[in-house]
Amino acid sequence: MDIARTPSTPDGNPEMADAAVEPKAPPEIRREDYQPFPWLVPTTRLDFELGLEKTRVTARLEIERNPDADASPTIRLNGDGLELVSLRCDGGECAGHMMDGDDLVVTLEGDRHTIEIVTEIDPGANSQLMGLYASSGMLCTQCEAEGFRRITFFPDRPDVLSTYTVRMSGPKKDFPVLLSNGNRADMGEDGASHWAEWHDPWPKPSYLFALVAGDLVARSDSFTTMGGRKVELNVWVRDGDLERTEHAMESLKRSMKWDEDTFGREYDLDLFNIVAVSDFNMGAMENKGLNVFNTKYVLADPETATDGDYDGIEGVIGHEYFHNWSGNRITCRDWFQLSLKEGFTVLRDQLFSQDMGSAPVKRIEGVRVLRGVQFPEDSGPLAHPIRPDSYREISNFYTSTVYNKGAEVIRMMKTMAGDEAFRRGTDLYFDRHDGEAATCEDFVKAIEDGSGIDLEQFRLWYSQAGTPKVSVELSQEGDEAVLTLSQAVPPTPGQDDKKPMPIPLRVALFDRDSGSHSGEHLVVLDKARDSFRFTGFARKPVLSINRGFSAPVTIGRDIANDELVFLAAKDDDPFARYEAMQDLMVRHLVTASKGDLSDDARNAGQADIVRALRAVTDDDALDDLMRGELLSMPSQTYIAEQIEAADPGRIFEEREGLKAFLASELQDELHHIYDRAEKLPYSQSAEAKGARKLKTLVLSFAAARDPQKAAELAAHQYDRADNMTDRQGALMVLTGIDSAERTGRLLDFYNRYQGNALVIDKWFALQASSLHPKVIEHVKALAEHPDFTLRNPNRARSLYMPFTGAPHGFHAANGEGYRLIANLILDLDPINAQTAARFVPALGRWRKLEPGRAALMRAELERIAAAPKLSRDSFEQVTRSLG
Ligand code: PHE
Ligand code: ZN
Repeated sequence: MDIARTPSTPDGNPEMADAAVEPKAPPEIRREDYQPFPWLVPTTRLDFELGLEKTRVTARLEIERNPDADASPTIRLNGDGLELVSLRCDGGECAGHMMDGDDLVVTLEGDRHTIEIVTEIDPGANSQLMGLYASSGMLCTQCEAEGFRRITFFPDRPDVLSTYTVRMSGPKKDFPVLLSNGNRADMGEDGASHWAEWHDPWPKPSYLFALVAGDLVARSDSFTTMGGRKVELNVWVRDGDLERTEHAMESLKRSMKWDEDTFGREYDLDLFNIVAVSDFNMGAMENKGLNVFNTKYVLADPETATDGDYDGIEGVIGHEYFHNWSGNRITCRDWFQLSLKEGFTVLRDQLFSQDMGSAPVKRIEGVRVLRGVQFPEDSGPLAHPIRPDSYREISNFYTSTVYNKGAEVIRMMKTMAGDEAFRRGTDLYFDRHDGEAATCEDFVKAIEDGSGIDLEQFRLWYSQAGTPKVSVELSQEGDEAVLTLSQAVPPTPGQDDKKPMPIPLRVALFDRDSGSHSGEHLVVLDKARDSFRFTGFARKPVLSINRGFSAPVTIGRDIANDELVFLAAKDDDPFARYEAMQDLMVRHLVTASKGDLSDDARNAGQADIVRALRAVTDDDALDDLMRGELLSMPSQTYIAEQIEAADPGRIFEEREGLKAFLASELQDELHHIYDRAEKLPYSQSAEAKGARKLKTLVLSFAAARDPQKAAELAAHQYDRADNMTDRQGALMVLTGIDSAERTGRLLDFYNRYQGNALVIDKWFALQASSLHPKVIEHVKALAEHPDFTLRNPNRARSLYMPFTGAPHGFHAANGEGYRLIANLILDLDPINAQTAARFVPALGRWRKLEPGRAALMRAELERIAAAPKLSRDSFEQVTRSLG
């Protein structure tokens, strides 16, 4: 990751690497430069002699010329920091070879060869957690996107598919369990050492390779597929964690069944292994037959995991399992196609979670992530289309745009096609491209052919970045309601002019008197401006639009507060109801934060919000999970997004002010809700989850109104808690209140869970995200805590990620928060570049802030850019952010 070294080109094009490059600028890889690889690698044999400090890797590649590519006199084998121990071609000397940067380029005269490469690596020294690395005594791999080249020299690109056989050997006592992809073919012992051989019958790209060796125990189970295949399932964890794997296993079995029922996809090996590791850069990884997971997405019991954690585990287990078809059986031609597997798989995991729990609430949560993370990305310096056109470091493109907007784009196709036609499209896609490395275009074509809908213009969603803004007007002409819609796609870096895109909007027109509508319509806005007419309205109806969030756009609607109150109380589409409530609050807070609110308008606005909320507290037909959504205030970040030059301090004050006002107006209702919720015993039922959500929500309202009283209530909830949701919720509220209760419960929490890394992560995160005025001091002190380390990504993130969302902390007017994050990036960059680079986007928001903070933020970016040695990851993010 040292960019001072000549960078390697992943596209097999030697010219590019020869070109003079700025010492600091790694080359830009462009989508349009794609060339098929000149060689095929039908089989790969890997032999690992395992050791924590020294692992010797012998790779034997059978290669032959690719008839579909231009012939080349050489083969380029990517490497990253590897040392070549030996190289043989067809059992002897190679005709020639050279190092080109980190890559090994071998001269080849014939059409078929066997290449044998020996490398030696030090997993213990691998702090980047890419390639083969050590994690608390075990060895594991992470190869996506370009980690395999840190293990051996190889054409490390997703369109080179090979059948792998893997042998590994090592000391039995250190590595009693030896795992790789596919099925175990053989095993044996040799004194204190033992070995295992694994064979994966399915050809795969190198990024799906995995190996795990360590002292692990498994929860085992089985699943019989619709075709009658009995699959052995294992969830591997460290001794002592076994009791916390039940939910993961149940989630896996539900995923397998759901993919059969919903997409007709059946599992294709006799074995499916999941391994939990505590040092991991991301959430989890879909390696063929051997998924590797961050412990955060495996381990759960009521005492240590929140309801949110349970849902996260179900979602991620589903996600990785679903990749077996959308990702593994059909993989990506190149990394520009990343959304082909990620967008589709996120959609699949979202649909799965919707089916397993409360669908409306899951949808709202999904939209919240999109709007909280992806919308800011799309309106900032890092904006890119879901299928990017260029990158310098692919790790930087595992973004919310590729994942979440990618899922929304496919969801729109589903909405326009209808469920059955969409399924015909996905069936065709799986059929047509099974075993291939495909493109986004292949996917769209298959949906088009299978469903029969025309997606010609729709393809713009793949190439244009930026969140479209749809302006909505509704007028009345005789007995017709006329809906006039116009769209604008804002300029983004490198894309000044945009074309109109097809935007599917589910709408309903409500009769004011009856409070109902006569059916939903799907309108597709595919021009810059268009009108839609609806007959049979004696007077102007109330418009409910973008129901279910049918399109990932922002809506600018000219709608009276009264109508929003009406929809917040009556809309039968849960998302639209939630949206009306949010709109009501966002509008009020935006105007107030800008200082544009007269006293009268403030009073009227607040009264409207209270009216709408009362319709929610009083609605007996609502379940509590949904009620909790409707009672939640829009986040600080989301409000800031709606303002040109936002002042985070002002927004914070207004938001807390409104919260306090609502808390006192709705005091009785909230009190009643709490009492009712408190009576429900712990269980994983939707009812009990809803009750827990409301309890903490009520506490946070109380905290804005009467902090001392709230501290007592929260302490009480904390003390009685028999589960992590209640305990963490109470502590979350307490961390924002300077009080004896705060100090006491923080200490108790630490002592109670000392030694449980995932819970101690929560302890760090709660303090770093708190509303406490001294949050910066707290974070600085926590960075010195003996349990804190930058070497574990979960821990590093637990302290600093929540902090970037803390209004007083990160956005302190004197720039101290920005400096703290810049220092973190500089400290973390040499240890774990990928994780460091993920903190850069927070600093890239400067254009959206008021001038004082903007200048301070920018200065920090410049300071990072000037650092003598910067990883390719951070370099790219910082230079793009400075724009
Ligand atoms: N492909 C993984 C997923 O989405 C994410 C990942 C990317 C994990 C890169 C590790 C490294 O499921
Ligand atoms: Zn994925």
